[in-house]
Amino acid sequence: MRILVTGASGRLGLNLALKAAELGHEVIAWSGSRVLQGAPFASRAVDLTVYSKLGKELDAEAPEAIINCAAFTNLELAEREPWLAEGINATVPGELARLAAERGMRFIQISTDAVFDGRKGDYSEEDAPNPVNVYGRTKLEGEQRVLHYHPGACVARVVFYSWGPAGKPSLAEFFYDHLAAEHTVSGFTDAIFSPLYGPQLAETLLEILDAELYGVYHCFGADSLSKYAFGVALAREFGLDETLMSPKSALEFNPDTPRALNLSMDSSKLAAAFGHALPGLDAGLDALHADLQSGLRLRLLGMSPKEG
Ligand SMILES: NC(=O)c1ccc[n+]([C@@H]2O[C@H](COP(=O)([O-])OP(=O)(O)OC[C@H]3O[C@@H](n4cnc5c(N)ncnc54)[C@H](OP(=O)(O)O)[C@@H]3O)[C@@H](O)[C@H]2O)c1
Repeated sequence: MRILVTGASGRLGLNLALKAAELGHEVIAWSGSRVLQGAPFASRAVDLTVYSKLGKELDAEAPEAIINCAAFTNLELAEREPWLAEGINATVPGELARLAAERGMRFIQISTDAVFDGRKGDYSEEDAPNPVNVYGRTKLEGEQRVLHYHPGACVARVVFYSWGPAGKPSLAEFFYDHLAAEHTVSGFTDAIFSPLYGPQLAETLLEILDAELYGVYHCFGADSLSKYAFGVALAREFGLDETLMSPKSALEFNPDTPRALNLSMDSSKLAAAFGHALPGLDAGLDALHADLQSGLRLRLLGMSPKEG
């Protein structure tokens, strides 16, 4: 399939573009302001907020499907400058979905567990979202606009860890780099999540395209745990010193940006649609480890984007 991946200079976008190309898809990768180096697929920078040009850009590429991984993911900056998050997280997805629907292109919008308030946990697609910060609110608005303009689109709510390009590290890279350097690192004992390994999430998104699913789907790992417990499990996987993990409360961290605490997620709707469960933590950490050994981390770092 000819797939356009937006946000391809980001962590999920780059892992997804690479996985899709490996699996034989024809990949067109759009980054935002930065340009990928030496990627094994077509890539270029396209500012998605230049709305007047988007239709022509899509016509020129003529993808069969778009997976929108572009987002404004800096939670703290989103609180201070909400209009930036509003544009990329809410307006852009709506515009892209509208243009895709007009052209008969399939569309997957990447969303987040942060649309929930974290008071209940074990959230399914039936639970009412109630975001606690600007990032979550704008991502929820993006979901709503996408489904309004493109009823055949899929909203995939995710949380993931992965190796990735240079820049802000994923949680796995953050823990791994500190532990490998024998530095103490804090992990939140009261922030619960259901993470999926990035390349496994990429395969899940491609399976959603294959199965022609539409509507909202939770795409999370089969295991829910605290970020502290994730760090301990990662230390064990890599034979690193787990006593360097220091238990902390998320409530002590940056009180200016509200955060949801219990974001354990239920992905049974997607598992039922696929006819198989999504990978759990052990399978994810095994793959993270194998990918480090096979050189994926260095490969992704080598493709790190530079300012355009
Ligand atoms: N990381 C997580 O665990 C997590 C958790 C929940 C949900 N998500 C969701 O997963 C998706 C991917 O997240 P990520 O962590 O991979 O994000 P990321 O690393 O911050 O990457 C964001 C991407 O968006 C692009 N972008 C930003 N503004 C743009 C614009 N105006 N025009 C075109 N592209 C633009 C960036 O391009 P440039 O840098 O080149 O400008 C970059 O490629 C997002 O939808 C996010 O909300 C992530």
